[in-house]
Amino acid sequence: MKTLYIATHNAHKTEEIRSVFGKFPALMRQYTLGNLSELNFHQEIPETAGTLEGNALQKAMFIHEKYKVDCFADDTGLEVPALGHRPGVYSARYANMPEEFEETGLVTPQSLSLPDPTFEQNMDRLLAHLQGKPRQARFRTVICLILNGQTYYFEGSAEGEILLEKQGIRGFGYDPVFRPTGFDKTFAELNLEEKNSISHRGKALAALTAFLEKTDNR
Ligand code: IMP
Repeated sequence: MKTLYIATHNAHKTEEIRSVFGKFPALMRQYTLGNLSELNFHQEIPETAGTLEGNALQKAMFIHEKYKVDCFADDTGLEVPALGHRPGVYSARYANMPEEFEETGLVTPQSLSLPDPTFEQNMDRLLAHLQGKPRQARFRTVICLILNGQTYYFEGSAEGEILLEKQGIRGFGYDPVFRPTGFDKTFAELNLEEKNSISHRGKALAALTAFLEKTDNR
Protein backbone atom coordinates (compact mmCIF):
# COMPACT_ATOMS: atom_id res chain seq x y z
CA MET A 1 0.00 0.00 0.00
CA LYS A 2 1.40 3.38 -1.05
CA THR A 3 0.42 6.73 0.46
CA LEU A 4 -0.29 9.48 -2.04
CA TYR A 5 -0.39 12.90 -0.37
CA ILE A 6 -2.78 15.60 -1.56
CA ALA A 7 -0.72 18.80 -1.59
CA THR A 8 -3.44 21.27 -0.56
CA HIS A 9 -4.87 22.87 2.58
CA ASN A 10 -8.20 23.40 0.80
CA ALA A 11 -10.76 21.18 2.59
CA HIS A 12 -13.27 21.46 -0.29
CA LYS A 13 -10.73 20.22 -2.84
CA THR A 14 -9.73 17.38 -0.52
CA GLU A 15 -13.37 16.36 -0.13
CA GLU A 16 -13.92 16.34 -3.91
CA ILE A 17 -10.72 14.34 -4.45
CA ARG A 18 -11.58 11.75 -1.78
CA SER A 19 -15.07 11.36 -3.24
CA VAL A 20 -13.66 10.58 -6.72
CA PHE A 21 -11.05 8.13 -5.41
CA GLY A 22 -13.77 6.45 -3.32
CA LYS A 23 -15.42 5.34 -6.56
CA PHE A 24 -12.40 3.12 -7.35
CA PRO A 25 -12.22 0.37 -4.71
CA ALA A 26 -9.41 -1.42 -6.58
CA LEU A 27 -7.35 1.76 -6.53
CA MET A 28 -8.03 2.31 -2.84
CA ARG A 29 -6.58 -1.13 -2.14
CA GLN A 30 -3.32 0.12 -3.65
CA TYR A 31 -3.23 3.71 -2.45
CA THR A 32 -4.07 5.56 0.75
CA LEU A 33 -4.73 9.27 0.36
CA GLY A 34 -2.78 11.32 2.90
CA ASN A 35 -3.12 14.97 3.77
CA LEU A 36 -0.74 17.69 4.86
CA SER A 37 -1.86 17.58 8.52
CA GLU A 38 -0.60 14.01 8.66
CA LEU A 39 2.80 15.38 7.62
CA ASN A 40 2.36 18.06 10.31
CA PHE A 41 2.70 20.71 7.60
CA HIS A 42 0.49 23.72 8.24
CA GLN A 43 2.24 26.58 6.43
CA GLU A 44 1.27 27.97 3.06
CA ILE A 45 2.68 26.19 0.02
CA PRO A 46 4.48 28.64 -2.30
CA GLU A 47 2.45 29.36 -5.45
CA THR A 48 4.24 31.98 -7.52
CA ALA A 49 4.32 30.63 -11.09
CA GLY A 50 2.44 32.42 -13.88
CA THR A 51 0.61 29.33 -15.21
CA LEU A 52 -1.65 26.61 -13.81
CA GLU A 53 0.92 23.97 -14.86
CA GLY A 54 3.71 25.90 -13.15
CA ASN A 55 1.77 26.32 -9.91
CA ALA A 56 0.65 22.67 -9.81
CA LEU A 57 4.28 21.59 -10.30
CA GLN A 58 5.56 24.08 -7.72
CA LYS A 59 3.09 22.88 -5.07
CA ALA A 60 3.65 19.17 -5.70
CA MET A 61 7.44 19.56 -5.92
CA PHE A 62 7.56 21.57 -2.69
CA ILE A 63 5.88 18.79 -0.71
CA HIS A 64 7.78 16.04 -2.54
CA GLU A 65 11.18 17.62 -1.84
CA LYS A 66 10.40 18.50 1.76
CA TYR A 67 9.01 15.11 2.81
CA LYS A 68 10.28 12.73 0.07
CA VAL A 69 6.74 11.47 -0.55
CA ASP A 70 4.59 10.69 -3.58
CA CYS A 71 2.01 13.44 -3.94
CA PHE A 72 -0.14 15.50 -6.28
CA ALA A 73 -1.37 19.09 -6.41
CA ASP A 74 -4.10 20.77 -8.41
CA ASP A 75 -4.19 24.32 -9.65
CA THR A 76 -7.39 25.77 -11.04
CA GLY A 77 -8.35 28.97 -12.78
CA LEU A 78 -11.51 30.58 -14.08
CA GLU A 79 -10.94 31.76 -17.67
CA VAL A 80 -13.37 34.34 -19.03
CA PRO A 81 -12.89 35.17 -22.74
CA ALA A 82 -14.54 38.61 -22.36
CA LEU A 83 -11.87 39.44 -19.73
CA GLY A 84 -8.90 38.29 -21.82
CA HIS A 85 -9.20 34.79 -20.33
CA ARG A 86 -8.55 36.25 -16.89
CA PRO A 87 -8.60 35.92 -13.88
CA GLY A 88 -7.06 32.51 -14.80
CA VAL A 89 -4.08 31.66 -12.67
CA TYR A 90 -4.89 34.70 -10.48
CA SER A 91 -8.43 33.49 -9.61
CA ALA A 92 -7.71 33.15 -5.88
CA ARG A 93 -6.23 36.68 -5.76
CA TYR A 94 -8.58 38.34 -8.21
CA ALA A 95 -10.01 41.03 -5.90
CA ASN A 96 -6.44 42.13 -5.04
CA MET A 97 -5.47 42.79 -8.64
CA PRO A 98 -4.95 46.33 -9.99
CA GLU A 99 -7.94 48.01 -11.61
CA GLU A 100 -6.60 47.51 -15.17
CA PHE A 101 -5.92 43.75 -14.69
CA GLU A 102 -8.84 42.60 -16.87
CA GLU A 103 -7.86 44.84 -19.78
CA THR A 104 -4.07 44.56 -19.73
CA GLY A 105 -3.23 41.62 -17.45
CA LEU A 106 -1.27 43.98 -15.19
CA VAL A 107 -0.16 42.27 -11.96
CA THR A 108 1.92 44.18 -9.41
CA PRO A 109 4.24 42.82 -6.71
CA GLN A 110 2.01 44.53 -4.15
CA SER A 111 -1.12 42.70 -5.42
CA LEU A 112 0.70 39.38 -5.04
CA SER A 113 1.92 40.11 -1.53
CA LEU A 114 -1.54 40.73 -0.05
CA PRO A 115 -3.43 37.94 1.75
CA ASP A 116 -6.00 36.16 -0.46
CA PRO A 117 -9.37 37.95 -0.62
CA THR A 118 -12.56 36.08 0.32
CA PHE A 119 -14.55 34.08 -2.25
CA GLU A 120 -17.30 36.72 -1.90
CA GLN A 121 -14.92 39.56 -2.77
CA ASN A 122 -13.63 37.69 -5.83
CA MET A 123 -17.16 36.92 -7.07
CA ASP A 124 -18.25 40.53 -6.51
CA ARG A 125 -15.39 41.83 -8.63
CA LEU A 126 -16.21 39.33 -11.36
CA LEU A 127 -19.87 40.33 -11.44
CA ALA A 128 -18.96 44.02 -11.50
CA HIS A 129 -16.47 43.64 -14.37
CA LEU A 130 -18.72 41.43 -16.49
CA GLN A 131 -21.59 43.90 -16.59
CA GLY A 132 -22.68 44.26 -20.23
CA LYS A 133 -20.13 41.70 -21.46
CA PRO A 134 -20.50 38.15 -22.84
CA ARG A 135 -20.65 35.77 -19.88
CA GLN A 136 -19.12 32.59 -21.29
CA ALA A 137 -16.50 31.11 -18.93
CA ARG A 138 -14.40 28.02 -18.40
CA PHE A 139 -12.82 26.42 -15.34
CA ARG A 140 -9.53 24.69 -16.05
CA THR A 141 -7.66 22.40 -13.66
CA VAL A 142 -4.15 21.04 -14.00
CA ILE A 143 -3.03 18.27 -11.66
CA CYS A 144 0.67 17.55 -11.22
CA LEU A 145 1.51 14.09 -9.86
CA ILE A 146 4.94 13.14 -8.58
CA LEU A 147 5.15 9.36 -8.35
CA ASN A 148 8.38 7.41 -7.89
CA GLY A 149 10.31 10.57 -8.71
CA GLN A 150 8.55 11.08 -12.07
CA THR A 151 6.30 14.03 -12.90
CA TYR A 152 2.98 13.66 -14.73
CA TYR A 153 0.24 16.16 -15.67
CA PHE A 154 -3.53 15.71 -16.02
CA GLU A 155 -6.01 18.33 -17.15
CA GLY A 156 -9.75 18.92 -17.13
CA SER A 157 -12.04 21.79 -18.04
CA ALA A 158 -15.70 22.71 -17.69
CA GLU A 159 -17.54 25.19 -19.90
CA GLY A 160 -20.36 27.36 -18.66
CA GLU A 161 -21.51 30.89 -18.00
CA ILE A 162 -21.35 33.43 -15.23
CA LEU A 163 -24.79 34.31 -13.89
CA LEU A 164 -25.91 37.80 -12.94
CA GLU A 165 -26.28 36.81 -9.27
CA LYS A 166 -25.00 34.16 -6.86
CA GLN A 167 -27.12 31.02 -6.58
CA GLY A 168 -26.58 28.14 -4.14
CA ILE A 169 -24.50 27.57 -1.05
CA ARG A 170 -22.54 24.39 -1.72
CA GLY A 171 -18.99 24.11 -3.03
CA PHE A 172 -16.50 26.96 -2.83
CA GLY A 173 -14.79 29.70 -4.80
CA TYR A 174 -16.81 30.88 -7.79
CA ASP A 175 -19.28 27.96 -7.64
CA PRO A 176 -22.34 30.16 -6.84
CA VAL A 177 -21.95 32.22 -10.04
CA PHE A 178 -20.91 29.44 -12.46
CA ARG A 179 -23.61 27.54 -14.33
CA PRO A 180 -22.21 24.64 -16.36
CA THR A 181 -23.43 24.33 -19.96
CA GLY A 182 -26.58 22.18 -20.26
CA PHE A 183 -27.59 22.61 -16.61
CA ASP A 184 -30.09 24.92 -14.99
CA LYS A 185 -28.18 24.97 -11.69
CA THR A 186 -24.87 26.47 -10.60
CA PHE A 187 -22.04 24.32 -9.25
CA ALA A 188 -23.10 25.58 -5.80
CA GLU A 189 -26.54 23.99 -6.29
CA LEU A 190 -25.17 20.57 -7.27
CA ASN A 191 -24.12 17.90 -4.79
CA LEU A 192 -20.56 16.66 -4.67
CA GLU A 193 -21.18 13.70 -6.97
CA GLU A 194 -23.02 15.79 -9.56
CA LYS A 195 -20.30 18.45 -9.57
CA ASN A 196 -17.50 15.86 -9.83
CA SER A 197 -19.20 14.15 -12.77
CA ILE A 198 -18.95 17.27 -14.96
CA SER A 199 -16.40 19.57 -13.35
CA HIS A 200 -12.89 20.58 -14.37
CA ARG A 201 -11.43 18.90 -11.27
CA GLY A 202 -13.60 15.79 -11.71
CA LYS A 203 -12.30 15.37 -15.28
CA ALA A 204 -8.67 15.93 -14.30
CA LEU A 205 -9.12 13.43 -11.46
CA ALA A 206 -10.68 10.91 -13.86
CA ALA A 207 -7.51 11.15 -15.97
CA LEU A 208 -5.34 10.78 -12.85
CA THR A 209 -7.23 7.73 -11.54
CA ALA A 210 -7.19 6.09 -15.00
CA PHE A 211 -3.41 6.56 -15.08
CA LEU A 212 -2.93 5.17 -11.56
CA GLU A 213 -5.10 2.15 -12.35
CA LYS A 214 -2.86 1.10 -15.21
CA THR A 215 0.43 1.95 -13.46
CA ASP A 216 2.40 -0.56 -11.42
CA ASN A 217 2.62 1.15 -8.03
CA ARG A 218 5.73 -0.57 -6.65
P1 IMP B 1 -6.29 27.20 -6.61
O1 IMP B 1 -5.15 28.17 -6.79
O2 IMP B 1 -6.20 26.02 -7.47
O3 IMP B 1 -6.50 26.84 -5.18
O4 IMP B 1 -7.64 27.90 -7.04
C1 IMP B 1 -7.73 29.25 -7.36
C2 IMP B 1 -9.10 29.78 -7.08
O5 IMP B 1 -9.98 29.27 -8.07
C3 IMP B 1 -9.70 29.40 -5.74
O6 IMP B 1 -9.39 30.31 -4.75
C4 IMP B 1 -11.17 29.44 -6.04
O7 IMP B 1 -11.63 30.74 -5.89
C5 IMP B 1 -11.24 29.07 -7.50
N1 IMP B 1 -11.60 27.67 -7.66
C6 IMP B 1 -10.79 26.57 -7.70
N2 IMP B 1 -11.52 25.46 -7.89
C7 IMP B 1 -12.81 25.84 -7.92
C8 IMP B 1 -14.04 25.14 -8.07
O8 IMP B 1 -14.10 23.90 -8.18
N3 IMP B 1 -15.15 25.89 -8.07
C9 IMP B 1 -15.14 27.24 -7.95
N4 IMP B 1 -14.03 27.94 -7.79
C10 IMP B 1 -12.87 27.25 -7.78
